[in-house]
Amino acid sequence: MNNCRISNKKLIKIFDFNKQPLGNGFLQKKDFNKEYFFEMKVGFCNTSKMFQLNYQPNPNKMFHKNYAFFSSTSKLMKMHFKKFYEELIKHKALKKQNPFIIEIGSNDGIMLENFSKNKFKHLGVEPSLNVAKIARSKSINTMVDFFNNKSAKKIKEKYGKADLIYAANVICHIPNIKNLFFNIHKILDKNGIFVFEDPYLGDVIKKTSYDQIYDEHVFLFSLHSVKYLSSIFNLKLIDAKHQETHGGSMRYYIAHANSYKPKSIINRILSKERTIGINNSKNFKNFQININRSKKDLVKLLKKLKKQGKTIAGYAATSKSTTILNYCKIGTDLIDYISDTTLDKQNKFTPGAHIPVKSYEYFKKNIPDYAVLFAWNHSKEIFKKEKLFKKNGGKWIIFVPNVKII
Ligand code: SAH
Ligand code: TYD
Repeated sequence: MNNCRISNKKLIKIFDFNKQPLGNGFLQKKDFNKEYFFEMKVGFCNTSKMFQLNYQPNPNKMFHKNYAFFSSTSKLMKMHFKKFYEELIKHKALKKQNPFIIEIGSNDGIMLENFSKNKFKHLGVEPSLNVAKIARSKSINTMVDFFNNKSAKKIKEKYGKADLIYAANVICHIPNIKNLFFNIHKILDKNGIFVFEDPYLGDVIKKTSYDQIYDEHVFLFSLHSVKYLSSIFNLKLIDAKHQETHGGSMRYYIAHANSYKPKSIINRILSKERTIGINNSKNFKNFQININRSKKDLVKLLKKLKKQGKTIAGYAATSKSTTILNYCKIGTDLIDYISDTTLDKQNKFTPGAHIPVKSYEYFKKNIPDYAVLFAWNHSKEIFKKEKLFKKNGGKWIIFVPNVKII
């Protein structure tokens, strides 16, 4: 697709990552020869201000009964969602009798468990059966489906309108975003709020964290794009809060156009976005240069260390790492294995690059000289956990915002 999913105008080319596999497509050796690849390119639309993939693989290829991402693997994310729950329940939209809360992309229930434990009327909409089953085992009311016209209609008929619709790290996955906003408008109560958070384009540009670009992330939002999109559907961006999660995210608060008054922070962030230039395609030149430099620096460093006979492993087989490994063409010649705590990824191989994924216990028994931190967004949690690795002479390689050894 070469046209904007919102304005239908031609996308301006930003970057071409060539052939890429599915970010979460961990696989077995026997499936190597039938692995799926697609041309990954990103473009920008100067009308909608949306940064987006030109082409996104079919959602059924990515979200299914064996989805590899389990939200609750991170303790810090659990805390993040608990804190957020505590903020949300104070909002005016929930100050009524028996408010109804919907979460889109509720995964294993990391956020909704807060509402469910406190007896809120709630519903999770989650298409990936394996993670939805975990949520259900925690008594979280979950509909196994994509959020779309059909499921939105079903929800409205069965439960009525929602007072809060919440989504984390999923709206950026949904290609038919016009349809999503249309349905939000339909099922959101007149005083309700729609709150979502996703990796923020401003952070990706600032930190050259181009690993946030992969099949699932069809969009990287900014206030400019979210404001534009909301206005088409008679909705309004009323508040925004920057988050440290996932390497820098933005939380957007949206409501019906004539309900809540927008906070002044909106104009302040919009003005900042104009200063950093993420509102116009002509300002992405440096981003392109920085991606190329990051690739060159990382490959050069890994090759140098390998030549010196050092052992190098990867820490955390994230979906983000799929872009890095495939774009930089890093394979088992440079990285021996990647350790990950997710059972479903272990003893498989990384998408495209085919580096073996090992358990965390394996990492403990096969401590490398250097570990490439692919879950750099969880560095606080990981550095705390891995004090001994460092103490025993182990070194971290990070690549965001710059390639360096620490
Ligand atoms: N909210 C969680 C999970 C993010 S991963 C967190 O922040 O940790 C994205 C989740 O959204 C996956 O579980 C995926 O199956 C789900 N998803 C993808 N497309 C969806 C859609 N159209 N509707 C609802 N959920 C979707
Ligand atoms: P995340 O950055 O959320 O992944 P993604 O890029 O896929 O969105 O990182 C989650 C992955 O990192 C998950 O596979 C588990 C792994 N992980 C570890 O192996 N150890 C850890 O200490 C943490 C926090 C994550």
